[in-house]
Amino acid sequence: MSSATKALQAAKFLSGMYRERARILYWAHVRGDLFSRLILPNHHTDPYQIYEEMRARGPLVPTRLGNYTTTSHRVCNEVLRSRRFGVRPEDGSEDLANQAGLDLSLLELNPPDHTRIRRLAAPAFTPRRMAGYVGLVDQAIQGLLDQCEREGEFDLMTSFASPLPIAVVTHLLGLPNDPERLRRLGSTIARALDGIWSLGQARTLAAADAELRTTFAELLDRRRADPRDDLVSALVAEQGRDITPAELSALVRLLLIAGFETTVNAIGNGMHWLLADRGQWDLLVKDPGRAPAVVEEVLRFDPPVQQTARVANQPTEVGEVLIVKNQWVITLLAAANRDPEVYPDPNRFDISRESPVEHLAFSGGIHYCLGSPLARLELTQAFCALAERFPRIRQTAPITMRPGTTLRGPLRFPVTVS
Ligand code: HEM
Repeated sequence: MSSATKALQAAKFLSGMYRERARILYWAHVRGDLFSRLILPNHHTDPYQIYEEMRARGPLVPTRLGNYTTTSHRVCNEVLRSRRFGVRPEDGSEDLANQAGLDLSLLELNPPDHTRIRRLAAPAFTPRRMAGYVGLVDQAIQGLLDQCEREGEFDLMTSFASPLPIAVVTHLLGLPNDPERLRRLGSTIARALDGIWSLGQARTLAAADAELRTTFAELLDRRRADPRDDLVSALVAEQGRDITPAELSALVRLLLIAGFETTVNAIGNGMHWLLADRGQWDLLVKDPGRAPAVVEEVLRFDPPVQQTARVANQPTEVGEVLIVKNQWVITLLAAANRDPEVYPDPNRFDISRESPVEHLAFSGGIHYCLGSPLARLELTQAFCALAERFPRIRQTAPITMRPGTTLRGPLRFPVTVS
């Protein structure tokens, strides 16, 4: 590509990015559009207030950006499970869910491709495989907590919440142990899920994407030459038959990204609410067997993935509203998890809650989180071990939250354990 063409492309990208940003700013500030306010980085501290304002306007609300949002558990569930919706338009029109242009594998595939590739990855998360991970997860947790104990005062995110899922997913994928590099690459890509807001961010993202592709290309080559009894070797064996090289590379990259930015934030959000209400923490300390219930309540009350989206692949009626073909619906999972039609006293964090209906933190329908058994295992063991080893843990300074709308969780969480 000539340098003139490259410059033209960069100029087009930039003007498109700033035009989009100006449009969102206009609707947020001048016209008070709630969804525009929600997606602007650094323009709110508490998304839950905006969700409540949206809920007051009805179960399915049009936004000024031309799509719909829903805060209703019932409507989210219906949209996520409906075959009349997909994760990308089938005729190639605007892909609202992935404006960063990343190849997110399963997350942006409709059937039949989605069905074919999900079937290949599913064996990595069977109950038998999970049982095999218990020891590995425990070993990783105890090693990190030993280090935290020696430090006494530490940042819960950098010393525990972040290295744990990285260690687990590195092992799952058979990657070389290089936690700092993987953390940097994963978080750059995760940040882009909220869109690209500057040329600098676009450049960093492109570099991170290229670096991850090279890392996985090398891993796939190693497993091709020397197969082992692991997920990546099993997938490599299918290559050419049921999965193309490009699909395989995108799938393993998705497993890495989906496998740690989410779990990191769930640990951070969970400890945030447990320590904010000491009574809840003390209940867990007295009975660490409550950890599985804690996990479900944390995921309901403040889920790391706050929203996802679906596009209608045919005209369809939802919640008495006619949705036209190619219309996007933003399913606000975090808002649905606090829907008073489903959860009594929804804004109360209560680890003793008995919910008859499952939260939507892992989404629903065919894209229901494939890694949910592993996430539940890691989170249960993490909360249990923290309560057993550090019953006196407390926060020592304000938490800094990460910017962004799609992923929610602390960036920094200073604590002491003495
Ligand atoms: C607390 C931790 C986690 C949360 C809250 C979470 C949440 C989610 C959500 C909401 C989706 C669906 C998005 C949509 O419907 O558009 C999803 C999909 C997915 N997750 Fe997770 N996840 C977590 C952990 C993990 C882990 C540990 C892995 C694997 C190592 C993983 C792998 C995946 C994959 C592969 C998909 C795509 C499934 C598909 O499209 O069929 N996740 N996750």
